[in-house]
Amino acid sequence: MSDANNAHDAGGPPPFTPHLWSRDGFNGDICVTGRPYPIVEYTAVTGPHAPHRIDLTAVAAADAADPAAEPTVVGRSTSGAELAVSRLAAPMPHLRRNAEQDEMHFVQEGEYDYVTDFGTLRAGPGDFVALPRAVTHRVVPVGDGGLRIVVSTAGQLLLKPPAPFGMINLARDVARPDGDRQSDLDGPVSLVVKAFDGLTRFTLPRDPMRFMMVLGGQPPVWKVNLAAIQPLTYEPHGGPPDSFAETGDRDLLFYTLSSRTGARPPMHYNADFDELIFYFRGPGAYGEFDTPGQLAWVPKSIGHWGPEEDVPDGYLAWLLESVGTFRLTEAGAAAANLMETGEFGISAATEGER
Ligand SMILES: [Fe+2]
Repeated sequence: MSDANNAHDAGGPPPFTPHLWSRDGFNGDICVTGRPYPIVEYTAVTGPHAPHRIDLTAVAAADAADPAAEPTVVGRSTSGAELAVSRLAAPMPHLRRNAEQDEMHFVQEGEYDYVTDFGTLRAGPGDFVALPRAVTHRVVPVGDGGLRIVVSTAGQLLLKPPAPFGMINLARDVARPDGDRQSDLDGPVSLVVKAFDGLTRFTLPRDPMRFMMVLGGQPPVWKVNLAAIQPLTYEPHGGPPDSFAETGDRDLLFYTLSSRTGARPPMHYNADFDELIFYFRGPGAYGEFDTPGQLAWVPKSIGHWGPEEDVPDGYLAWLLESVGTFRLTEAGAAAANLMETGEFGISAATEGER
């Protein structure tokens, strides 16, 4: 053992596979151990708390054919967070407002105009769009549609990088709706309000999104592109990433997990968060991920390692950490495969009932 440690001290590779047990994501108590072999493998699993990869491009999204349909929910957490997929291909025929949830939209494919109470925000591939509760909106695809990922939460979404500059250039890269491009619909208009028990539909005599000026404060809708969020690392060895947005109750944390320098992370038991990693695009592969629109879901406490992140060609990916434990809906399970958590490939393990 002492010889092995001396070799490590001399700058050689660790003579063991490191393993991290951590609380509060990467921000709380930790204990790092050296294990004699990888401990993320499994050969069989039965039950619901198992890692899966989900092909989000294969989800049968209801709004692909019906622009009045809500995004299709593929997962729900015990905190009430929802993960949904939209393939809206035509303008929403109604206005919409979420009464109880803030929403973070990620544009995987396509271009969209978010027409809101505060003007219009155009979003394209790689953009996160924050759409707080009680904001009226109508989404209009600019082209033939595309693919969006929608995270809805009972918490309050906050843009909160670790410092006022560095990770995100807030002045240059965070955009808010253009007040000169505002809604101008002839009445009557339909308004759909989403609450915990479903949708409530109003008919209004006039368009409620028209406005004349902002008199105070700032529009609460914003966007930032994944490529404009700089990954955090610790040179030269690497270390934990850090989040750029979170909910006020820290139930959800949003990170860039794009390619970065440093060694492969340790194997990990995340004591408090489910990890949901979204591969946006290459050109480089992230382990077994080389096709855009793939999700790796590792439920909390389940052993995982994760692929090398220091990939010469680079790739863009993001991570959602969730205190609430996720479960797939029927629509999500239909696009899901059991996952091995070393390289995020499809697992060869046998799977019993979920
Ligand atoms: Fe992890």
